[in-house]
Amino acid sequence: MFKVGISRDLLNASGAPIFGTPALKILDACPAVAWEFTPELVAEVSPDMAARYDALHVNLARVTRASVGRADCRLKIIARNGVGFDSVDVEALRARGILLTNTPLAVRRPVAVATLTMIFALAGRLFQKDRLVRQGRWDARNDHMGQGLTGRTIGLVGAGGIGQEIMRVARPFFRRMVAADPYADGAVLQARGCELMPLDQLLSTSDFVVVCCELTPDTRHLIGAGQIAKMQPGAYLINMARGPVVDEAALISALDGKVIAGAGLDVFEQEPTPVDNPILKMDNVVLTPHALCWTDECFHDIAASALQSIVDVAQGRRPVYVVTG
Ligand SMILES: NC(=O)c1ccc[n+]([C@@H]2O[C@H](COP(=O)([O-])OP(=O)(O)OC[C@H]3O[C@@H](n4cnc5c(N)ncnc54)[C@H](O)[C@@H]3O)[C@@H](O)[C@H]2O)c1
Repeated sequence: MFKVGISRDLLNASGAPIFGTPALKILDACPAVAWEFTPELVAEVSPDMAARYDALHVNLARVTRASVGRADCRLKIIARNGVGFDSVDVEALRARGILLTNTPLAVRRPVAVATLTMIFALAGRLFQKDRLVRQGRWDARNDHMGQGLTGRTIGLVGAGGIGQEIMRVARPFFRRMVAADPYADGAVLQARGCELMPLDQLLSTSDFVVVCCELTPDTRHLIGAGQIAKMQPGAYLINMARGPVVDEAALISALDGKVIAGAGLDVFEQEPTPVDNPILKMDNVVLTPHALCWTDECFHDIAASALQSIVDVAQGRRPVYVVTG
């Protein structure tokens, strides 16, 4: 049998899969596959797990060189639940001939919608106004004027799958869309109504700077104090990518000093972020626990994509979304 382990962190408190049950039919329809939720909940895939399964569907657990280093490792595929794979040692998998797949299509629309949700909440002063009602302070409405978007510019740091999906959904709302991405094709973006420009120009041009690039050694702290200083005083920084792409200490200091108007963070340098992180006390930020895009549709589609990749390998086919292998 082709043994499949599904990461235990994909179960909710009552022990049901957070992605629903329909996606599991993909595994049930394949007679060669025997699957289970991994008995252990781990932060890092253990060599024992690697020796037990032919395929692992991993969510939060890291996959390191040690995970796959033992001689009895029988893994043929790691199917990452999501598009980012900074939690996986790609080189270690490549060296062992283990396939790594991700689920780029499934997250595009959900993250794009989550990005707009963040922008609408910040521009509309959603949470400040919610608090006014709860505190009976309707008179203070005058001091919480929101911002319209039709005259404003959205700037995307990263114009990959998610960046381009944001272009599709954001287009009706903004006057101008710009993007910075050293590897993007300006003509493709132009066809989407978006202008490619250097990062520094984007920072000084945009009212809403959205970070949606991948985390690599090159993009770690891509947005630091120097970059934030180039933004307009009324602008917002939104990070939908990975926490370490933005220097969080520099951001907190900039928010404190009113260098920019506010921020929206779905991701943090350390997750969960410590409860004494000073950003938690700030009024001009919207914070979500790396989960603003999580919906029933998103999680079904991610699981269906990842489990299909596993069945493809079990049946000797090459999966569609291969990162390496
Ligand atoms: N918040 C969430 O829940 C969530 C969900 C899904 C993905 N993500 C993050 O979003 C990232 C992007 O996803 P995607 O599907 O668009 O990936 P993708 O691989 O399609 O696109 C990444 C883009 O980043 C660009 N890039 C690389 N270096 C850059 C730089 N220095 N400056 C600007 N752009 C640069 C690449 O050229 C590429 O176009 C993922 O890697 C993941 O970390 C977050």
